[in-house]
Amino acid sequence: MPRKWRDYPVEPPAVRIGPLHIHPPLALAPMAGITSHPFRLLARRHGCGLVFSEMIHARALLHGGSYSRQLTFFEEAERPIGFQLVGSDPELLAAAARQAEALGADLIDLNLGCPSSRIVRNGEGGALMRRPQLCSDIFKAVAEAVSCPVTVKMRKGWDNQSVNVVEIARRAEEAGLAAVTVHGRTVAQGYGGKADWEIIAAVKEAVSIPVFGNGDVASADDAAAMLEQCRCDGVMIGRAALGNPWIFEQVRARLEGRPVPAPPALPERIKMALYHFHLLCRFKGEEAALPEMRRQAGWYLKGFPGAAQVRRSIAGAATAEELRRVLQKYMMEAKD
Ligand SMILES: Cc1cc2nc3c(=O)[nH]c(=O)nc-3n(C[C@H](O)[C@H](O)[C@H](O)COP(=O)(O)O)c2cc1C
Repeated sequence: MPRKWRDYPVEPPAVRIGPLHIHPPLALAPMAGITSHPFRLLARRHGCGLVFSEMIHARALLHGGSYSRQLTFFEEAERPIGFQLVGSDPELLAAAARQAEALGADLIDLNLGCPSSRIVRNGEGGALMRRPQLCSDIFKAVAEAVSCPVTVKMRKGWDNQSVNVVEIARRAEEAGLAAVTVHGRTVAQGYGGKADWEIIAAVKEAVSIPVFGNGDVASADDAAAMLEQCRCDGVMIGRAALGNPWIFEQVRARLEGRPVPAPPALPERIKMALYHFHLLCRFKGEEAALPEMRRQAGWYLKGFPGAAQVRRSIAGAATAEELRRVLQKYMMEAKD
């Protein structure tokens, strides 16, 4: 009898999501406005095991305009890649998932966590945590629509009075989803306060599909601590990766029992910022890349002497060439 994928052992540190072997068990969090193709490419090249698109509205994907084409663009080097869908209509999400699979996504992730009022007021994203039965309907419709794995990224609950992520995770497993990610904050919390890792542990106890923990992992030690304390199968990192793709090789080294590489010096960081800008210009064109890089460049310089002044110069850069010159000048000064 041929063996099924689930019969093959996975060597740690790794996790299996359906037929996908995620090594290391380390994911880049979906971040709207940030985790476009260049960002994901850098994350993968630095040792991240799984990347996600920015959230894509199901309706926008089906409509197929230039914006959704940009959100779904990726290169082979980014695989495995998940497309994250947001919406609340099971049929629409199922149709969008089919489209995402046809575009080459390795997995489909469902957004049950976005706290933005623009999304929540339509009953989408984090608002779905308040409607467990609708969640089940969505999970079933999407899981039946595609042959690739389907996962869900959830919050702890809507607010502290309605913490129900364990129930929603059980529903996800029942509907045939392949893994869940838990961000240990309520929707009402937004990004404030501290992520609750105990709730991640509670979800891990409750289901037998893989669980990714998410929230406040800022270092290799944090990632190892989350895996140990929550007994979860993988870790998802968001904000700590901003201007810092090296976080993935640091976590990877820690999980593989190798010495954790030191954070890079300023010249190397600026070189990476320039390369990131090059990728963004190639992807979007200089005009669209400029405002995005004004934001991203600051993260590469965080905490270095004179960074505030350089950030002001970056904010004032009127052309791509000027932005490059500001960064190159700072790099030369940093070398002296
Ligand atoms: C700017 C920004 C955009 C985000 N966009 C998304 C998104 O599109 N989909 C999603 O599920 N979560 C989104 N998130 C939440 C992150 O994926 C992650 O759950 C959160 O930042 C907590 O993880 P961290 O502490 O590692 O940053 C976003 C977060 C930030 C800061």
